Amino acid sequence: RAEDGYGLWLRYAPLEGEALERLARFDPEIRINDHAGYIDPTLAAAADELARGIVSLLGDRAKARPSGNGIIEVACEGMMDMNPERFIVTPFREAGRRGLRITGGDYGACIYGAFGLLRELSLGHDPASITLDEAPAMPLRMLNHWDNPDGHVERGYAGRSIFDWWHLPDRLDQRMIDYARANASIGINGVAVNNVNARAFMLEPDYIAKLARLADAWRPYGIRVFLSARFSAPVDICGLATADPLDPAVAAWWQAKADEIYAAIPDFGGFLVKANSEGQPGPQDYGRSHADGANMLAAALGDRGTVIWRAFVYSADDETDRAMQAYNEFVPLDGQFADNVIVQVKNGPVDFQPREPFHPMFGAMPNTHLMLEAQVTKEYLGFASHLAFLAPMWEEVLDADTGHGGTVVRTVAQVVAPVGMAGVANTGSDRNWTGSDFDQANWYAFGRLAWNPQLSSDQIAREWAAQTFSRDPQFLGAAVPMMLESREAVVDYMTPLGLAHQMATGHHYGPGPWVCDLPRPEWNPCYYSRADAEGIGFDRSATGSNALGQYASAIAARWSDPETIDPALLLWFHHVGWNHQMRSGRTLWEELVWHYDRGAAKVDTMAETWSTLSEYVDEERFRAVSEMLAIQQREARWWRDASLAYWQSVNGLSLPAGAEPPA
Ligand code: GCU
Repeated sequence: RAEDGYGLWLRYAPLEGEALERLARFDPEIRINDHAGYIDPTLAAAADELARGIVSLLGDRAKARPSGNGIIEVACEGMMDMNPERFIVTPFREAGRRGLRITGGDYGACIYGAFGLLRELSLGHDPASITLDEAPAMPLRMLNHWDNPDGHVERGYAGRSIFDWWHLPDRLDQRMIDYARANASIGINGVAVNNVNARAFMLEPDYIAKLARLADAWRPYGIRVFLSARFSAPVDICGLATADPLDPAVAAWWQAKADEIYAAIPDFGGFLVKANSEGQPGPQDYGRSHADGANMLAAALGDRGTVIWRAFVYSADDETDRAMQAYNEFVPLDGQFADNVIVQVKNGPVDFQPREPFHPMFGAMPNTHLMLEAQVTKEYLGFASHLAFLAPMWEEVLDADTGHGGTVVRTVAQVVAPVGMAGVANTGSDRNWTGSDFDQANWYAFGRLAWNPQLSSDQIAREWAAQTFSRDPQFLGAAVPMMLESREAVVDYMTPLGLAHQMATGHHYGPGPWVCDLPRPEWNPCYYSRADAEGIGFDRSATGSNALGQYASAIAARWSDPETIDPALLLWFHHVGWNHQMRSGRTLWEELVWHYDRGAAKVDTMAETWSTLSEYVDEERFRAVSEMLAIQQREARWWRDASLAYWQSVNGLSLPAGAEPPA
């Protein structure tokens, strides 16, 4: 199955050359400690993975039985004073034999240690010189599945849901184990299994039993399960007259529900809640605040779990700039949330656009646990059809200075590090899990960055591509730069210079800048572009919506001037004349055209680059990627030409000399 992509970055393709010789010489026996015959399931899973990985890396050189020249010892005991997720890999010697010992803060650390060691071995590193000492930067590293119980995945581009609710709890699909392996290998330790637009019946006893089976299967891999809970569940499934969070009967219902879940799943993670957003029920329906709603649920969970309350809110009757609504609703509540409540904030203030400024809530709620929500599935970046490696986008937001540190830099990563990161999953039941081979890299990158936000996009791309496709330096030298440039290409041909939400209605796939007649203003691309005969861009400075006022003063000062703002964010914050002189020497109009052209040209280069790499990749995946790139080449032009034609209809300008004419 390695060829069809099912093996992900855990293919453990046979090593070659010196790397193979070194591993063949080491050829370790794998030892785990038992306690009077009892083997902890996590240690067993770690040992299984090591055996599987090493046999596979040795390829034809694997012996029927390991010779045990070397030793890998999976210990993870007696170091309980350490961070329970921290692992250490150190060499040792025993009676002339070389060994590597994995120790850790708790058994769970050993699974990370095993995967960490396997990553090193997969990259061809010498077993004799591997030493590792790692702990995750953030306690909660989770995937949010927008999977519905009927198998449909909201904003999913990789087929039906991977969760087989129909056959659970009686049958557990092997995919659930492979899914847990993949997650554990990148440090993911929490999974919300169902859509934030939740169905209340998933809180009913038969679904709790199904969820318990998943929790049992994933526990050895360090994964806790979470459920998206519909706020009106007591009304929907139990006939209560109200879901008012301050009503004692409602609180009692949730308390009993939590007790019922914990009886089946003792390490249940908690509830993920989308409330009072896009038509979902919530505490505001009863005149209560987000804090009232979240705290009531938090009390039901007690110290057993966490309420993750989403800050992605906007409502039809709020006339303010949509980008400002979450901040307006949440920042006044700073300090009011219970200690086991996390407020989960999307990377930017609108909605997972190809580029947004960081969300102004980061840093603005010092007395609230804030967590970053990123979207691994590419709702606004060409679905699985367009190749866009998202690590550079997440790196951009994680490294952004919130301006809330006074004289010292206080990045988004620093704000969320004590809490965590959630990624909206991009998995489905496609053979390659993610709909396209390169979208596996986004799953991988999300986990790696949540584990260590200091990792560079380059390193992540390199590791992923080496494990997934080929370790050959020629291959990596071509494929890695292609990945690193891919997201900027999408920004260029879809929404350059700070434009946003120019996608067609509902599905968000192709271009739709001309759409202006939808019933709610903020559904219309024209709401975001504000394009008119004079210029283009959304004035969010003091003369406009003043969304800039939500940022720390140092940031707002820099961004309030069209001359000093990063041009990549220009039209997000400013309405700029078509003939405005850019720093490049071009006019704004010329600059826009230049970006659209550059985006389309980059995709051509990506396709050309890939076409030279056939010798490093199996035929099946080589062809699959080539065909997707051909689609992207065509559609990048579609985006460019349709967008430019529309802007021309508004500004009456002709294309600058040298611009590629529409096909
Ligand atoms: C986007 C997306 C929705 C999703 C929502 C959310 O608006 O299009 O499908 O439900 O985000 O994050 O809740």
